[in-house]
Amino acid sequence: MFKLETIISLAKRRGFVFQSSEIYGGINGCWDYGPLGCELLQNLKQAWWKAMTYRDDIEGIDASILMHPKVWEASGHLAAFSDPMIDNKTSKSRHRADNLIEDYIDKMRKKKKDDVAAQIQQKLDSVANNDDYFKIITEYGIPDPISGTTDWTEVRNFNLMFKTFIGPLDDAASTIYLRPESAQGIFVNFKNVMESSRQKVPFGIAQIGKAFRNEINTKNFLFRTREFEQMEMQYFIKPHTEKEWFEYWQEQRFNWYVEYGMKREKLRWHPHTKLAHYANFASDIEFEFPFGFGEIEGIHSRTDFDLTAHQGLSGKKLEYIDTVTKERFVPYVIETSGGVSRGVMAFLCNAYDEEDAVAEDGEKRVVLRFHPKLAPVQVAVFPLVNKDGMPEKAHALYKDLQRNFKTQYDVSGAIGRRYRRQDEIGTPYCITIDGDTLANNTITVRERDSMKQETISLDNAQSYIFNKFAE
Ligand code: GAP
Repeated sequence: MFKLETIISLAKRRGFVFQSSEIYGGINGCWDYGPLGCELLQNLKQAWWKAMTYRDDIEGIDASILMHPKVWEASGHLAAFSDPMIDNKTSKSRHRADNLIEDYIDKMRKKKKDDVAAQIQQKLDSVANNDDYFKIITEYGIPDPISGTTDWTEVRNFNLMFKTFIGPLDDAASTIYLRPESAQGIFVNFKNVMESSRQKVPFGIAQIGKAFRNEINTKNFLFRTREFEQMEMQYFIKPHTEKEWFEYWQEQRFNWYVEYGMKREKLRWHPHTKLAHYANFASDIEFEFPFGFGEIEGIHSRTDFDLTAHQGLSGKKLEYIDTVTKERFVPYVIETSGGVSRGVMAFLCNAYDEEDAVAEDGEKRVVLRFHPKLAPVQVAVFPLVNKDGMPEKAHALYKDLQRNFKTQYDVSGAIGRRYRRQDEIGTPYCITIDGDTLANNTITVRERDSMKQETISLDNAQSYIFNKFAE
């Protein structure tokens, strides 16, 4: 298993991800996607959008990030969307109490104190309130990782929503929030979408968009950030049919990751023991990152919690009337909620590979084995040498392919070096224009993973690549 630092360094060097506001020293929990990163991001979102909305029963929306403050009152986020926070009085550092305990458990495991780790884990699993976190921290003398002291404050709730003001006045009456989940934009539009698209239960609404959480501690690159994107879908169903739909969506979503190249053995299910305030059961798809397994997507059974709450506070009926049976009910909801940024990071880690002395020039090969549909660059075109009419032919092909594919043109360095530059960013196909092109009008297509080369007619280049992406 390679280190996360290897991915972070490749991501920066090749233009996938940069630290936000880097020239000012960066800002914690925020990252910027570079030229290749934003292609990967777009491809990932496009793959999800197609899987979720190119079907009869799901419609898409794009709701605004700023919403009426009552949304967060009804959804329960104002009262309950918080994490347990503890401060160290010596270092003044601030921690999420549950993460502090989890990190200590990991430390115990590394020190081979498995019995102590198991004991603390058991207590952590049955925590009911902030006092319980505090008891664990004091009972086991868990120290502050910065000062090493156990000089702790009590544990209190920290609401994760970012506040801002709407309009010119910054008073309490104009306080609004950056949405901490995109889902509420779907709930409040349930009726609009159902009526305008003439959908009948069961049906879903999908959305991709930014969410913001003032996380107490950010960590592990893109894994826990303060600004991130979600791809969420709420599936509206008849009450008490949630078990069967939950299973259906579990299967769909797991298979989607596998279809786009995630190694099955790197994925697992993690059923929730501690539920969010809106869920009656839930399970996460976890991916094995270099730092261990972590959630990439949650499937949540949200019952009629959100629609009933919005109906209550807005006074607007959010019911469904079955035109055949005349039954009237507030639909239950199964939610699939994936993180786009966590997805990018998981697909990057999943794709990363190092091979010893197998590249064409005998040097170590670093390769990102992306599914071709996710790869930021789809085709690269090289003239074998920078003379004899090859650059002109290669450049013309490059321009032609660029009409339909993200294509790169590279003339510099030995051909092996050019292949390796493309391998390192995951380009699935590299085309070389050589002497045979001039003599016979043929080109060589080299496939990233097998490194096999195929000779085809130059005239068929566009359709050849088209077919590869249609496969
Ligand atoms: N609407 C339900 C919801 O938001 P969640 O489990 O809190 O559920 C869903 O979040 C997904 O959003 C997670 O599986 C994760 O991929 C992503 N996510 C949540 N918090 C995140 C953060 N601070 N940074 C990056 N991604 C995050």
